[in-house]
Order: sequence, then C-alpha cells, then structure tokens
Amino acid sequence: MKFFIDTANLAQIKEAQALGVLDGVTTNPSLMAKEGITGKNSILKHYVDICNIVDGDVSAEVNALDFAGMIKEGEELADLHEQIVVKLPMTKEGVMAAKYFSDKGVKTNVTLVFSAGQALLAAKAGATYVSPFIGRLDDVSTDGLALIEEIRLIYDNYGYETQILAASVRHTMHIVNCAKIGADVMTGPLSAIHGLLKHPLTDIGLAQFIADFEKGNK
Ligand code: E4P
Repeated sequence: MKFFIDTANLAQIKEAQALGVLDGVTTNPSLMAKEGITGKNSILKHYVDICNIVDGDVSAEVNALDFAGMIKEGEELADLHEQIVVKLPMTKEGVMAAKYFSDKGVKTNVTLVFSAGQALLAAKAGATYVSPFIGRLDDVSTDGLALIEEIRLIYDNYGYETQILAASVRHTMHIVNCAKIGADVMTGPLSAIHGLLKHPLTDIGLAQFIADFEKGNK
C-alpha cells in the first residue's frame, strides 16, 4: 500500500519524506488555507514546492464547479509539474472532467467520495485515484472501512485500474485496516504514520538491550 501524507505543511512533508516511506501528497483547499496559502500565485508556487520535496504524486484540487472552469484550472495545475494529479470533486461536472483528463493522459483524483456508486462512476470515467473519505463516514456513525471493502470488491470484479486512495484517515488503525482490506493508497496525517512506529514492548526491549550492552562494555 502506498503512503500519502494529507497536508500542505512543508515541514511535515519533509519529515515524512525523510522517514523514507512517503509515496505522495494530497492537499485540499482547506489544508492550503490552514497553512495560510492564499492567492493564485502563492497557491501554484506552493504546489511546485511540494513536488520538489516528495518523489511521487501530488494532488492539487480545482476550485471551479463548472466543467469549463475545471478544465481550465486543471490544465494549469497539470502544467505546473509532472507529479501533479488534478483533484476533482465527485459531481457530474467532476466526473466529466475526470473523463476529459483521463482521455488526455492527465492523472486525476476524484475526491469527496462517500458511496460505492460514486466510486464506480469515477472508475468508469478513468480516474487514476478515487478518494473515499473514511474518517468523515465514521464521524456520522457509518462504517468508512466497509466502503473501502465494497469498492475493492467492485473494482476487482471488473479489473478497474482506478486506485483506491483511502482518505480522511485519522489514526493508525485506519492505516492497518486499509492495508488488510487492500486499499491501494492511504492518505493521512503525519501523526497516524508515526503511530505505526509505537509499541511498548519495542521500548522495553530496547531499554534492556542498551542496559545489557552498557553493563558488558564499561
Ligand atoms: C483527501 O484527499 C482529503 O484531503 C482528506 O483526506 C480529508 O480528510 P479530513 O476528513 O480529515 O479533512
């Protein structure tokens, strides 16, 4: 399973890249705003900065809601850097734009997916990635991981090549369960990736090894 980090924070992206397990980055307008990145030129520059840190796909989301606007914005984003993936909302216009870009060989990520039917449409449109938001489903008492299972089954039934990008990952067990189900990619916060490192028996075992080494090498 590929690991993407879900942030526009350059320091966190650098930290995840330094860990050596990072395969890409996802951003969205809220994450860009959180970093104080506003204005077209700053936003475009920030995407290039991210691409220069990470080896892998970087999702950059369009803000237009109409088809023509999505195409214009998406083309501008795709021209920025070869690592850019055009992120499109799961709307009628977004699906049409995903088809347009996939016919042109431009990578796409269809976002804000909350049902298997939406994921089926994204695959039919030739999207590179589909982003089901598991955390936001969990937030409304709906099993987010069950949606990943449903999409996996549907895509495997027909051999769709669209990659399941489990999004809105909130914690370490989301990552582990996505890997068990067979999500192609997960995108989550640095804290969830770091959570995978932790086990008290590792800490206890390491402390013992160090103590024994020090005893024998005084
Ligand atoms: C996906 O690409 C989104 O950026 C993201 O995963 C949303 O996560 P949130 O529900 O934590 O905002």
